[in-house]
Amino acid sequence: MRFIQTKDYESLSKTAADILAAQVLLKPHCVLGLATGSSPEGLYQNLIEQYHQGKLDFSTVHTVNLDEYVGLPADHDQSYAYFMQDKLFSHINIPAQNTFLPNGLSDDIAAEGIRYDNLISKLGGIDMQLLGIGANGHIGFNEPDTHFPCGTHLVTLTEKTRQDNSRFFESIDLVPTHAVTMGIGTIMGAKRILLIASGENKAQIVKDAFFGPVTPQVPASILQLHPDVTIIADEKACTLL
Ligand code: F6R
Repeated sequence: MRFIQTKDYESLSKTAADILAAQVLLKPHCVLGLATGSSPEGLYQNLIEQYHQGKLDFSTVHTVNLDEYVGLPADHDQSYAYFMQDKLFSHINIPAQNTFLPNGLSDDIAAEGIRYDNLISKLGGIDMQLLGIGANGHIGFNEPDTHFPCGTHLVTLTEKTRQDNSRFFESIDLVPTHAVTMGIGTIMGAKRILLIASGENKAQIVKDAFFGPVTPQVPASILQLHPDVTIIADEKACTLL
């Protein structure tokens, strides 16, 4: 596990963008696993700038997103499909048919999970998976549990996660109760993992997940067992280390 501490969110975003950019430069046909949420917004902005400066070409890149809410159509402004269009895809030259998210509108999420994991395998697996981390240690939407779930699957969101995400909705009642997420097995299957954590509200979980025991009660702690993980955290997220 490589642990990089940066001064602030801006330098975190720049460092993380440079690592993702290096992946694209080294392997133009790579598969990137992507995340939504507040953490990667600066990183995506940085990639867009590098693209406009002519430093990056996404025309042969494929992307697979970690997760999607159940029940929100792609044109809903809080769906993760919408987020990815808005924050990244519509600003770079990635072909629409190269970008994938789990289908939260499927009426058979179990079958959707199998389809999504097969799709990732057919693409050749994930070269680099980007992750944020929930204040409760979730990665993707794998919430604290008694076991580590393996493949892409349906989850019931915890009240904590719904509360955390309610800042994006008009009221907590509008936050979906379910999501479909890559499993821990899907994430651990990525060749490289890049996790970013910013701000004081991540300080406790950064300490617990990466400097505490590996336990399904802290899903991100399993990353300690992955052979190629880079954690980038800003000063505020490192205050308890
Ligand atoms: C997003 C995702 C989540 C977020 C996590 C942190 O696709 O899977 O695990 O990474 O909830 O969210 P932020 O970055 O908003 O603190």
